[in-house]
Amino acid sequence: MNDQAQALRDLVSKKNQPMQKMKIITVTSGKGGVGKSNFTTNLALSLKEYGKTPVILDADFGLANVEIILGQRPKYNLSHLIHKKCTFSELVCESQYGIPFISGGSGVKDMLFLSQDEMDTIANQLTELEQRTDLLLIDTGAGINEIVLKFCQLADEVYVIVTPEPASMTDAYALIKTLVKDFSLTPQFNIVINKAMNREEAHDVYRKMAYVVKEFLQASIRYAGYIPYDPKLFEAVKNQRPVIHYAPKCSASEAYKAIGRSILNMPEPERSLKTSWLDKFKKVFSS
Ligand SMILES: Nc1ncnc2c1ncn2[C@@H]1O[C@H](COP(=O)(O)OP(=O)(O)OP(=O)(O)O)[C@@H](O)[C@H]1O
Ligand SMILES: [Mg+2]
Repeated sequence: MNDQAQALRDLVSKKNQPMQKMKIITVTSGKGGVGKSNFTTNLALSLKEYGKTPVILDADFGLANVEIILGQRPKYNLSHLIHKKCTFSELVCESQYGIPFISGGSGVKDMLFLSQDEMDTIANQLTELEQRTDLLLIDTGAGINEIVLKFCQLADEVYVIVTPEPASMTDAYALIKTLVKDFSLTPQFNIVINKAMNREEAHDVYRKMAYVVKEFLQASIRYAGYIPYDPKLFEAVKNQRPVIHYAPKCSASEAYKAIGRSILNMPEPERSLKTSWLDKFKKVFSS
């Protein structure tokens, strides 16, 4: 009897809770090799340490970035889901570090040419994603191509990884410009400066970026933090381990954790009012 009453209370309290929609963060950069995949993976792990359960989507069809960092070999990728060769739960790879991830593989390119039937299949299966997590982290490939732009369109927040190299800054600016001017997109743009020598250098990169974005695009960007250049990270990648596990106290690991904490502390007033991410997904990938 007591159990029944408790179950009812649980049901009622759940019913009265505002609907929590899944948040989508897309990590991108323009220029390749600047630290997107390490950022996505280590950010997910840091958020897990603080009690979140993010899922990663590796949307780089060229290179299997995330699975290499996690030292994992998934059996299926998005292409298998699209062509009904696996179910959603088979697609999700449970990594040894407790972060589930989805390999996009060749399926990421297939997403550009979905038939109505394939769109329905994938949309039906992806409803399960929202039952698994309230945060999807998408790691994109290098460049400013149709796939990258679509995953940015899908996002609630875009994290742009920039290094102090001029080419990285100009490519990041070009990406933001395309999103603002060609797609009229104004998601929250968050800038992470990677491989910085120190805080001053990171702030300097941010100031320059913020100036051109404001001056020429009339848009704004948020400083999300910086990750110092850290040889431990290179060592961790060589050992196919995420640096947060390989060297939890090194400066890069501490920086990922600080960014994780700041994300958790950010207010998100509008989340429960958003349109469904699945509707957005269908719209973005049908056009
Ligand atoms: N903070 C850092 N300190 C030192 N080395 C770093 C740092 N961040 C990244 N690297 C080095 O840069 C390499 C590329 O990083 P990563 O694979 O995360 O970049 P990416 O942007 O995902 O690349 P791609 O565009 O090819 O997908 C890593 O293997 C690592 O050796
Ligand atoms: Mg990568």
